[in-house]
Amino acid sequence: MLQVKNLHASINDKEILKGINLEIKAGEVHAIMGPNGSGKSTLSAVIAGKEEYEVTEGSVLLNNEDLEDFAPEERAHKGIFLSFQYPIEIPGVTVTNFIKTAINSTRKAKGLEDLPAKEMLKLIREKADLLEIDRKFLSRSLNEGFSGGEKKRNEIFQMAMLEPKLAILDETDSGLDIDALKVVANGVNKLKSKDNAVLVITHYQRLLDYIVPDFVHVLHNGKIVKSGGKELALELEEKGYDWLK
Ligand SMILES: Nc1ncnc2c1ncn2[C@@H]1O[C@H](COP(=O)(O)OP(=O)(O)OP(=O)(O)O)[C@@H](O)[C@H]1O
Ligand SMILES: [Mg+2]
Repeated sequence: MLQVKNLHASINDKEILKGINLEIKAGEVHAIMGPNGSGKSTLSAVIAGKEEYEVTEGSVLLNNEDLEDFAPEERAHKGIFLSFQYPIEIPGVTVTNFIKTAINSTRKAKGLEDLPAKEMLKLIREKADLLEIDRKFLSRSLNEGFSGGEKKRNEIFQMAMLEPKLAILDETDSGLDIDALKVVANGVNKLKSKDNAVLVITHYQRLLDYIVPDFVHVLHNGKIVKSGGKELALELEEKGYDWLK
């Protein structure tokens, strides 16, 4: 599904990613761990196509298609979902209205008509029930006064609605408490299928007790320095990152 080949990327002429190789197949869950500043968020931003970053070498392919020339919205329409894509507060725009707009713009890009209101409502209720989201939450203004856990809930709800092929969840800077970790984990586990894939970026070995990854990769100084199975996360917790340098 996703192939990252010898990816080098810079920001303001500073090279951050220094040759990343990563292959994610449909049905797999991959976790990326690594010290602060190693390039984890940069990697997710580059996959999502954020324009501040310059790809200087290598490529990112989604289902064998090179994403180089596609803008972030186009990549989203192709099925790449990046968490924290919409961290802004939008007073007056509810969680429901925001997702309706997002769904219909994706449909439009595919040449489809807007989803009829009744079907949209049905879908929203179905996904909210699946994720045990209170209906009241759906009529709140987007991110306004949301707690960390509520932001996560909203993000997972967006993911459930948009049904991405590849979901990238960057959990680093959010100070997740155990409830928020469970929101993320339950959401991911319920939405996981043989046709989609998930890339979780996390500092928390604990999260990986709930979302069991097929592969764990360690990023250090812009390179993947080690890959392994879920046991690698435990080893990292015990030994830290120094032994991998
Ligand atoms: N806009 C920017 N301008 C300058 N340097 C940047 C910019 N964005 C990222 N960097 C630098 O790139 C490096 C990698 O940052 P990145 O956010 O990818 O790390 P990270 O692995 O996600 O770290 P953390 O675990 O703290 O979230 C850091 O040294 C950071 O300062
Ligand atoms: Mg980060």
